[in-house]
Amino acid sequence: MSTISANRIEVLHGVNLDMLGRRDEKHYGDMSLIDLEIQIKQWAKEVGLQVAFFQTNHEGEYVEQIHRLSDGTDGAILNPGAWTHYSYAIHDAVEITDVPVVEVHLSDIEKREKWRKKSVISDVVKATVSGKGPEGYREALRLLADELK
Ligand code: DQA
Repeated sequence: MSTISANRIEVLHGVNLDMLGRRDEKHYGDMSLIDLEIQIKQWAKEVGLQVAFFQTNHEGEYVEQIHRLSDGTDGAILNPGAWTHYSYAIHDAVEITDVPVVEVHLSDIEKREKWRKKSVISDVVKATVSGKGPEGYREALRLLADELK
């Protein structure tokens, strides 16, 4: 009997995402990061993916974690928080990685302040899901599951 192991996805939460539940509910809802991760884990299971999580408030650590994606991870979901709008370091790290990356934002960055409208990583990711709240992670998981079929 052969066993097919599930594809492994890493969800990389960036700066201030550890503060979910204490941030502006209007944009980010009331879920804590841990509750969001429990929900993502459930959704991942439904589409046959295994999921791991990482969060940091340090840009260099985030970059290093992106560098490590190629070692045993099949795809990634990135919400870099405010780094999205100016971190060319994260852009370049995503450009190097050989695994598919989907960018997710809980809030609709295009409908907020002018400085948030621009994502500097959007040209190096497979897809961007923005403004769908936690459901955005579900959509990203589905996109990755299809991509990795
Ligand atoms: C965010 C949007 C960013 O502009 C903001 O700085 C965040 C979270 C989102 O998920 O909507 O921290 O990426």
